Amino acid sequence: MERRKVGILGATGMVGQRFIQLLNNHPWFEIAWLAASDRSAGKTYSEACKWKLDTPLPGRIGGMTVMPNVPEGTPEGELPKIIFAALDADVARELEPKFAAAGCAVVSNSSAFRMAPDVPLVVPEVNADHLELIEEQSWRRESGGYIVTNPNCCAIGLVLALKPLEARFGIESLFVSTMQAVSGAGYPGVASLDILGNVVPFIKNEEEKLQEEVGKLLGTLASAKVELLDAKVSAHCNRVAVEDGHTECVSIKFKKKATREEVLAAWSEFAPLAGQRLPSAPDQPVEFDAGVDRPQPRLDRMRGNGMASTVGRLRECSLLDWKFVVLSHNTIRGAAGAAVLNAEVLARLGKLEVKNRVRQRDAVLV
Ligand SMILES: NC(=O)c1ccc[n+]([C@@H]2O[C@H](COP(=O)([O-])OP(=O)(O)OC[C@H]3O[C@@H](n4cnc5c(N)ncnc54)[C@H](OP(=O)(O)O)[C@@H]3O)[C@@H](O)[C@H]2O)c1
Repeated sequence: MERRKVGILGATGMVGQRFIQLLNNHPWFEIAWLAASDRSAGKTYSEACKWKLDTPLPGRIGGMTVMPNVPEGTPEGELPKIIFAALDADVARELEPKFAAAGCAVVSNSSAFRMAPDVPLVVPEVNADHLELIEEQSWRRESGGYIVTNPNCCAIGLVLALKPLEARFGIESLFVSTMQAVSGAGYPGVASLDILGNVVPFIKNEEEKLQEEVGKLLGTLASAKVELLDAKVSAHCNRVAVEDGHTECVSIKFKKKATREEVLAAWSEFAPLAGQRLPSAPDQPVEFDAGVDRPQPRLDRMRGNGMASTVGRLRECSLLDWKFVVLSHNTIRGAAGAAVLNAEVLARLGKLEVKNRVRQRDAVLV
């Protein structure tokens, strides 16, 4: 099968680098275009980027030229139809619509459009049916392009563990306290003097994002709208001195009582993508570890090639019903890997065949 050409917007950052690592030998996608800020445009990727991953920067990618950050900066016909975006929210708010308007499928990591009513916020194992929302977007009608988003890095690992529980027992209320890795703040991120030997009990806007995104992800699509999950969610978010991997301590109350065996069965039997043969989908999206001191970021973040959520320490809660710990890799499952999996599902659904009805620059001339 011929691989589809893809681009990466924000290619030099922490998430952009993960995109390169995950897409470099992807069986369906081929990196054909890279862009970052004006600081990087015109340089080769290896000149523009401080490569921070523990696999070598692929030689072909290092020699590619970083392009300007607007569709018009690329010669006609050379802009890929699939753009993976890893931009800060303020930049994404301005740039992502330009690519959608130019007829691209924008698969975004940013929070800029996650809660927009016509933009799908998707984790494929949880709510792939919400992808239908792209048909409501004006870009889709006018140019064929659209925006699809994946959630905040904490919300992804958490909702994977919650979805099978919500489906069987219903969630009434949820309390979650996070311990988030420094790579979640991008590069250079938190100053070393602030985080070494320390815990910072504040991450701007993170608690609000986590609470509202859980409601949308576990919500129901009806009449081209998402009805939010009717549950109380309270989050505490903390930055800790861990390189990669977000750990979350969860207490949960169900609408219907559940035994320990029933909770464990809900997790172990959760395989909503089984049989679809998506290259990035883990065989077991939620893995339970019975060890008394697991999961731990250093030991468990790479389960399922970094795409699985690991749960452990399931025990009764004296305030709510049950409590447990969940861990996931924040730049793989929590960011780039999540977007790549979203694109794989879009490919299976035939929604990457974006028709180039009008290019943006042509639209201006008409
Ligand atoms: N890190 C995580 O664990 C994580 C998880 C989930 C979601 N996210 C989200 O993913 C996005 C990227 O995060 P990150 O951690 O990769 O951030 P980062 O390391 O700070 O990287 C930001 C990227 O955006 C580029 N950029 C900045 N201004 C730009 C502009 N005006 N035009 C085009 N490109 C511009 C930067 O390019 P230059 O190198 O040229 O400056 C860089 O490539 C954010 O929205 C973040 O919230 C991150």
